[in-house]
Amino acid sequence: MQLLIIKGDLLMKNILVTGGAGYIGSHTCVELLQKGYGVIVVDNFDNSSPESLKRIEEITGKKVTVYEGDVRDGNLLDKIFSERKIDWVIHFAGLKAVGESCVKPIEYYNNNLYGTLVLTDTMRKHGCKKIVFSSSATVYGDPEILPLTEECKTGGTTNPYGTSKYFQEIMLEDIYKSDKEWTVVLLRYFNPVGAHESGMIGEDPKGIPNNLTPYISKVAIGELKEIGIFGNDYPTHDGTGVRDYIHVTDLAKGHVSAIEKINGNGVYTYNLGTGKGYSVLDVIRAFEKACGKKLPYAIKPRRAGDIAACYADASKAKKELGWTAELGIDEMCSSSWNWQKKNPEGYRR
Ligand code: NAD
Ligand code: UD1
Repeated sequence: MQLLIIKGDLLMKNILVTGGAGYIGSHTCVELLQKGYGVIVVDNFDNSSPESLKRIEEITGKKVTVYEGDVRDGNLLDKIFSERKIDWVIHFAGLKAVGESCVKPIEYYNNNLYGTLVLTDTMRKHGCKKIVFSSSATVYGDPEILPLTEECKTGGTTNPYGTSKYFQEIMLEDIYKSDKEWTVVLLRYFNPVGAHESGMIGEDPKGIPNNLTPYISKVAIGELKEIGIFGNDYPTHDGTGVRDYIHVTDLAKGHVSAIEKINGNGVYTYNLGTGKGYSVLDVIRAFEKACGKKLPYAIKPRRAGDIAACYADASKAKKELGWTAELGIDEMCSSSWNWQKKNPEGYRR
């Protein structure tokens, strides 16, 4: 039995998913398992619940190997790489709240930068040099032109979270420059929203959500009173901020496409977005359609650090990875609502 398991482990391609219990990580684990990959998760559950991993197993009928712990723990990572044959690492683990990062820059730089350093150092030690990194459209700062292509200038980030993403991209590029055996894939996500079609996994923010769609969901379920729209005087079609919302399932599939299509060492950078921009009011209307009720909102002052509009040119991912987002704003809102209705208290952590 033991031998068979070890043999299975060797034949199957194994992916180490850091932060695999989190929002995007959990959806990516589902897509990987459904494609026949072995999935090993390391997560400290700082912003997630082990319940999401159980649900992944229920959705897919497959096992996830779980190591509870921190990616900054070199001994733990050493143990994982010694016990498992790992072909690729998909690195989601990190802190991601923009506002909090301004209050706790030390914690953000420590977790995000140091985590990536310990991880890449361990990968090098064990000869695993293929990494997909969760970057963000935030690395483009305030866009000079739209849509954003991968060639657009990066930097000019306005908060420690965004700056940590920008620094991590540079760190990974430098690692490749020093050792051409690395394959580094930088995926710049636009605005991930929605949930798995089963309604069993989804976004489960702690406390009052900062991001738009989780906030709308909480208003729709009656937990919060009204949506605050941060500014209606932007130079956009209705004055409210425009973003490129992407369904989390499409985003998850983008990771699978990356590990399947990229063949050869180097640094590969892709925007993962739909290429379409929707305003705050457009999203509220789509959500009203999904939940079948009117949602109260009030216009508030602009939020500090916000930009008017941001959307991707996603043609490079289409051309090189054969990946394109398939789900539209209606599916994004209906799947968020389905998850919210089925799990009014999230994973109850
Ligand atoms: P999330 O908080 O739901 O998931 C992150 C996971 O990492 C959580 O399960 C958390 O417990 C874990 N984690 C955090 N620090 C850790 C550590 N030191 N060791 C081990 N586990 C740790 O966030 P998400 O929305 O799924 O985002 C995943 C990644 O994508 C993050 O790197 C985030 O910055 C990036 N990203 C997210 C968005 C977004 O809108 N959600 C946009 C762009 C980029
Ligand atoms: C934010 C982060 C970005 C991060 C992303 C995903 C900022 C400045 N940027 O992007 O770095 O990668 O989340 O975590 O925080 N809005 C409202 N009312 C709300 C919430 C949002 O009107 O209650 C508006 C915003 O002004 C914006 C749009 O909705 O126009 C989307 O906001 P949000 O979901 O927070 O995402 P971003 O600000 O684009």
